Parts: sequence; structure tokens; C-alpha cells
Amino acid sequence: MKGFWDFSDRKVLVMGGTSGINLGIAQGFAEAGATLGVVSRSQEKVDAAVSTLSLHTKAIGFSADVRDYEAVADCSREFCERFGPIDVLISGAAGNFPAPATGMSPNGFKAVMDIDLLGTFHVLRSAHAFLAKPGSTVINISAPQAFQPMELQAHVCAAKAGVDMLTRVLAMEWGCEGVRVNSIVPGPIADTEGMARLAPTSDMQKAVTASVPLGRQGTKEDIASAAMFLASPAAAYITGVILPVDGGWSLGGVASLGDALKSAISS
Ligand code: NAP
Ligand code: COA
Repeated sequence: MKGFWDFSDRKVLVMGGTSGINLGIAQGFAEAGATLGVVSRSQEKVDAAVSTLSLHTKAIGFSADVRDYEAVADCSREFCERFGPIDVLISGAAGNFPAPATGMSPNGFKAVMDIDLLGTFHVLRSAHAFLAKPGSTVINISAPQAFQPMELQAHVCAAKAGVDMLTRVLAMEWGCEGVRVNSIVPGPIADTEGMARLAPTSDMQKAVTASVPLGRQGTKEDIASAAMFLASPAAAYITGVILPVDGGWSLGGVASLGDALKSAISS
């Protein structure tokens, strides 16, 4: 994909962009010349991500928790003051752990709701004032749990379903300002924290791979490519879309993960 896109005049802010899929997205845009901002809680991860991205482009980072509205608002404000209005906003911070509802304290459920759903609202609501209008695009990073009920995932299912509904509602509210809002639903992405938590054994990893119609787990580059497509002029008429980028996993294979996870956790 290197060389395919040119984002050299674009400013991209990635919330939760210091590891895994979201850092992969930041890297894709950085290699395409965009100016990057990344945000997450750990200052150490922020510094490491900025060093990596700076090999390709201008990059800055901020340490903030998406559960803190003022803190994330400050990130967007500072990024905008430094570089100008945000052209591409990615909201991908998330938390997950497998547990049955009865093994989850109210605070455990709330932690995931607060990071994934309330955090997404915080990110989008507070960045709105700093988005380029018209012409900017917002991409929420969702998950198959948004539409596939999965045991041990009550918190994530509830939160990501809410994220996709936010995508649709804000696409309607912000369309008149020329701001597009879409969700990407990654399938199983290899070498990520999310997959390590949901398929903790090598047998589970193999079963997941076998359940993907395209016969492989996805890569971070697969998701970065989709994000760059959605942010590009080629997607100028696409808004309010929930886009699976999953090798066809959502056609059926994803449904088997809940059962496998339940057996792995109980054995
Ligand atoms: P990851 O590496 O753990 O990425 C999560 C990122 O969010 C990290 O940069 C983390 O950094 C940040 N973060 C977490 N809590 C935060 C908070 N409260 N405030 C600010 N930043 C926070 O996980 P991943 O597996 O790549 O997942 C990335 C996204 O893809 C998530 O939205 C996930 O739901 C989605 N997804 C993943 C998969 C998969 O196969 N992995 C599949 C479907 C969907 P800090 O720890 O420094 O805060
Ligand atoms: N099973 C059951 N409950 C759990 C749990 C588990 N495996 N892990 C955490 N919890 C509960 C805690 O016990 C706590 O509840 P309590 O106060 O009633 O005891 C609650 O969740 C919050 O835990 P805490 O560690 O204080 O939260 P945090 O805000 O520091 O971290 C998490 C949030 C729990 C989501 C943490 O896993 C995280 O930071 N994840 C980010 C990385 C990630 O998940 N990546 C994959 C993305 S798909």
C-alpha cells in the first residue's frame, strides 16, 4: 500500500493510537505523508509511538484518558492550535477482558462502557469544534461484538453496539457540515492485544484463522488501508457506514468465538 495514498497535506489525530491496530492506522497515514497526533494513557507508549511515527513524518503525542472529557478536549485543541483543523479523527481507544456477566463487577462493566462508548462520545463531541469543515472524516473503530452477541463479552457487545449507533447518528447530524462519520469493524487481527485476550491459546488462534473465509487473520495494514480509503476523496459520498474489514469473518465464523472462549476460560 506504500505510495498508493497521498495524505501529505492532511492532519490526522488517532485517539488510542499508541499500539496495535490504531498505531497501525497512524503508521499508514504517516507513511502517506500526513501530520500525526496520537493519544493514550501511558506516556511511555505515547513517546514510543511518536518516535516510530517521526521516522516518516511530523508527529506529536499526548497522554490522556478518554474517560476524562477535558483531557481529550485539550488534546484536540492543542493539536489544532499547532497544526490547524483536524482532517481525519480516529477514535479507537478500547478495553476488554473476557468474563461472564456474573463474574463482572458493576465497575468492570462500567470500565469498558466508559472507555469504549462514553470515551468515543467524549472524543467526537470534544473534537467537533476542531474538525475541518467541510471535508473532514471521523472513523470509529468498532468490533464484531457490536452486532454478534458473544458470551463473556456483555460489556464490549453493549459498548460497541453503542459506538456504531453513535456513528450513524453523528453521520446524520454532521453531514450538513461536510463531516463524514464511519465505523470500521476489524475482524481478527494478528499480533494484537485484543486477539491475545480473546483467543488466548494457540488452538484458539488456529480455530479463529480456520473460521475466516479468506483463510487468514487480518493485518494492521489491512485496517490502515481501509481507514485511508474512508478518509480519501474516493469515499467522498460514504457516511454512516459500518464497514467490516474481516476477510468475511462476520458472515458466520465470528459466531464460534464466544463458545471457544467460554471453553478456554473454564478449562
Ligand atoms: P490495543 O493494542 O490494546 O490498543 C488499545 C489502544 O487504546 C492503546 O493505544 C491504549 O493505550 C489505548 N487506550 C486504552 N484505554 C484507553 C483510555 N482509557 N484512554 C486512552 N487510550 C486508551 O488493542 P487492539 O487489539 O489493537 O485494539 C484496537 C482497537 O481495535 C480497539 O478499539 C478494539 O476494540 C478494536 N478491535 C480489535 C480487534 C483485534 O483483533 N485486535 C478486533 C476488532 C476490533 P494505553 O494503554 O496507553 O492507554
Ligand atoms: N475479569 C473480571 N473483572 C475484571 C477483569 C477480568 N479479567 N479485569 C479487570 N476487571 C475489573 C476490575 O476488577 C475492576 O473492577 P472492581 O473495581 O469492581 O474490582 C474493573 O474491571 C476496572 O479495573 P481496573 O484495572 O481498575 O481498570 P483500568 O481502568 O485500569 O483498566 C481495563 C481497564 C480493565 C479494560 C484494562 O484491561 C485495560 O486498560 N485495557 C486496555 C487494553 C485492552 O484491553 N486492549 C484490548 C482492546 S480490544
